[in-house]
Amino acid sequence: MYKLLLVFCHWLQNTPFVLALAGSTWAYPPVQATHFTGLSLWMGTNAALDLRLLGVGKGRQTISELSDALFVWNWIGFGIAVLGGFLLFSVSAEGYVANPAFRVKLGVLIPVALALHILNQRKARVWSQTPEPPPVAKLAGLTEMLLWFSVATAAVSIPDF
Ligand code: HEM
Repeated sequence: MYKLLLVFCHWLQNTPFVLALAGSTWAYPPVQATHFTGLSLWMGTNAALDLRLLGVGKGRQTISELSDALFVWNWIGFGIAVLGGFLLFSVSAEGYVANPAFRVKLGVLIPVALALHILNQRKARVWSQTPEPPPVAKLAGLTEMLLWFSVATAAVSIPDF
């Protein structure tokens, strides 16, 4: 399985488009900016919902109203972040798959954080039935925030390995 992944990474890194991207003096910063623009939207809307789960702004909107209002922008942000992340990854795919921080980020932290995020969005309606979020909602919001913070910490540690 890992061998297959390495074959894919070798192929990806040597496609004409990715070679042109890697060899360009101007193309890399816009790709980085794409990742960060998507992340701003994704992390910002995640944080808003997680803070609401913790009870912040409970007088303004229910958890469910806020989740519905942010839903489309939240997933557009995720799509942009994944697109930018994939392009960043592609220029040095073989290096990234061998990098422990990248492996923890993509193989462990993102899947766990994403699963909890989807669960939180699905539970929004149930958790909106009382004015004060139930303790389980607060725990879920806090845990999700800590998980995304861990994803960002793993990401900034990638160059150290
Ligand atoms: C959605 C959650 C994600 C978060 C919170 C996140 C966060 C970050 C952050 C903060 C950086 C900047 C690191 C630095 O320059 O110091 C970064 C870079 C990067 N990200 Fe992501 N990222 C996410 C998803 C992804 C995905 C899905 C991929 C791959 C498909 C990816 C691939 C990369 C790559 C290759 C870099 C460049 C690492 C380097 O060489 O320094 N990211 N990410």
